[in-house]
Amino acid sequence: MNDEFDDTSAHDDFDITAAADLTADEEALLTEMPTLTDVGQARRTFLGQTIAGGLGLFALELLSIEKAFAGLSPSPDAVVAAGSAPEHLVKVALTVNGATKTLELDSRVVLLDALRERLGLTGSKKGCDQGQCGACTVLVDGRRVLSCLTLAANAECREVTTIEGLAKGDRLHPMQAAFIKYDGFQCGYCTPGQICSAVGLLEEARRGHVSHVTEDVTVTTSRLTDDQIRERMSGNICRCGAYPKIVAAIQEAHSGRESARTWRFVEEEELARVRKEWQDNETV
Ligand code: FES
Ligand code: FES
Repeated sequence: MNDEFDDTSAHDDFDITAAADLTADEEALLTEMPTLTDVGQARRTFLGQTIAGGLGLFALELLSIEKAFAGLSPSPDAVVAAGSAPEHLVKVALTVNGATKTLELDSRVVLLDALRERLGLTGSKKGCDQGQCGACTVLVDGRRVLSCLTLAANAECREVTTIEGLAKGDRLHPMQAAFIKYDGFQCGYCTPGQICSAVGLLEEARRGHVSHVTEDVTVTTSRLTDDQIRERMSGNICRCGAYPKIVAAIQEAHSGRESARTWRFVEEEELARVRKEWQDNETV
């Protein structure tokens, strides 16, 4: 075999000090080379790969693995990702569902994260986290807001109401009861936001707020048509498509006109009969 074209011998002769323009991370990698055998990388193989890749991303990735295993200290000029230590701390007194708690928060924390991560109120949902879906809707001083776009610090000295705060003990809020009556949900992920939004909507209607589909804005009316409900709820997305029943539920809570429930809970005797039929079928 012609040694001139023998890759193996070429790699063996490779002089690491001859590699031009190495960065500090690359220098550190080469210095630590012997320990790479401990994590299953043959030095020779590694050299071949780094030559081919020009000590690029692959080498840096191995360096990070090596650091993880061997506790290699980063070089002084290495670029290191920012730590997770809290910054810009502020004290925020949040009044949520009637209870006030003072939290120490990064000033950039949004209300949704403060509710879910710090106060354990996970009823408000994170859907898009960018103001598009409405799953995070809560009430602040009775007005609906997207808690994913609201800084927690901005909610100080205000009354925040989440889905957990709507019921009075065992008594559901009329909007919650209406959603159940009309089966206004399927998976339920959007439902807390839908209900909070609907409660805020009723208050807007009571104040005579107009909307995009209000035909005559000079006439103040608190009576909402189904179209107005649809338009006012358009910021709340339901991927399950429970919209017709959501509108029906809100319309009933709004108008007070009750219609008969179209479903009922199954009775215990019916359940027992069905269970027995299953058991009988299994033994046949
Ligand atoms: Fe806030 Fe989607 S999570 S609007
Ligand atoms: Fe599933 Fe609305 S009930 S997203």
